[in-house]
Amino acid sequence: MPTMGALHQGHATLIRQSQQSTNCTVCSIFVNPTQFNESSDLEKYPRTPEKDIALLLESGCNVLFMPSVEEVYPAGQQSELHLHFGELDSRMEGEHRPGHFAGVAQVVNRLLEIVQPDQLFMGQKDYQQVAIVQEMISQLKLPVKLTMCATVREADGLAMSSRNMRLTPAQRALAPLIYQTLYQTKDNVGNQFPADMQAAALRSLTVPGMQPEYFEIVDGRTLQPVAIMEDHDSVVACTAVRLGDVRLIDNMVLK
Ligand code: PAJ
Repeated sequence: MPTMGALHQGHATLIRQSQQSTNCTVCSIFVNPTQFNESSDLEKYPRTPEKDIALLLESGCNVLFMPSVEEVYPAGQQSELHLHFGELDSRMEGEHRPGHFAGVAQVVNRLLEIVQPDQLFMGQKDYQQVAIVQEMISQLKLPVKLTMCATVREADGLAMSSRNMRLTPAQRALAPLIYQTLYQTKDNVGNQFPADMQAAALRSLTVPGMQPEYFEIVDGRTLQPVAIMEDHDSVVACTAVRLGDVRLIDNMVLK
């Protein structure tokens, strides 16, 4: 399982899920420079290697792979992988973080090449990322099975994230509003059109100290906006919000 470190219980759950279905779990910690579209986000990305190693030992991970940038990109950071994800990366994270998914695909492909695992475990917290990586696996016909693991949350609903530790106490107190809004949206399924649910969610997330970047109700497979719930088998609400200079994402399956 690939990670960027600053590990928390969300990552530990991925490790435990891997252990249940494989006989050797490899965790990588690599803060991938090619997927950061804001250099300040890369610089401020938390790095807690000692704590990470303790968590990996505790959760029974077998191998830690913590490469340098040179080891991952010996020929430089320019990607030779030119994949097209079509509509999968046209919106949401793809739209708001240009180049982000090209960097994610590049590093996951490279890590798979080095580690050669049979299985890959990734979190639903990054729903669009899972869709992109699955699409890459299909396009390149890589011999690996991708499993998506449920989002692990704090007691108050906030999705665990390495970025949460950058929140001030006041921002941390405000952050559960993201989960509450997603939950409220799910509660309104059947009573409202997606466009009205989206408008209500954007209003709910617009409070002093928090700005929504997007809140979209999309098809769970194509990630394109949903106009009528009944026309789709699987529907997911995805959002990104900013609290000061910390950007958080979350999602909830509505159907
Ligand atoms: P990172 O944010 O460290 O996340 C590593 C993996 O843990 C991802 O698959 C992510 O979805 C999962 N994860 C994070 N928080 C989670 C939570 N609260 N519940 C469940 N799973 C969670 O995502 C990345 O790193 C990078 O983009 C990476 C895939 C490693 C490529 O660099």
